[in-house]
Amino acid sequence: MNRIKYVEFPPLGDNRGSLVALEAEKTVPFDIKRVYYIFGTLLGVARGFHAHKNLKQVAVCVTGKCRMVLDNGIEKKEVWLDSPTRGLLIEGLVWHEMHDFSEDCVLLVLASEHYDEADYIRDYQEFLKVNK
Ligand code: TYD
Repeated sequence: MNRIKYVEFPPLGDNRGSLVALEAEKTVPFDIKRVYYIFGTLLGVARGFHAHKNLKQVAVCVTGKCRMVLDNGIEKKEVWLDSPTRGLLIEGLVWHEMHDFSEDCVLLVLASEHYDEADYIRDYQEFLKVNK
């Protein structure tokens, strides 16, 4: 789907367990300016419901899982983020929602820019308009 891509993070495992390294401009295809994580999401709570004008993000559930609903204005798609070795790259205008967080879910997000509320589109009708 346009503006959405899976990113694989090779696990550097040995007999002690696993390790994943995320490096800017390598495993993560942009310069990382911000990292945030969502955890302790209450049962039945959905988050997101916005798009970004310019931001690039990679989202990965380092533990647990959640269901992501994605909409690039042309098509809609649902994916489960349920692996610490597979992230989702979201570039440009994509309406996204996160649902069905498992109790143990820690959703880690790497972002290409600092937090800027002006970059958010939080109204779906506006998203459709801007996307035309
Ligand atoms: P919000 O955008 O509502 O989260 P979600 O899209 O997951 O539902 O963000 C919750 C609050 O946190 C809101 O007041 C903005 C603030 N926030 C920051 O200050 N910095 C950040 O990097 C992010 C992602 C959010």
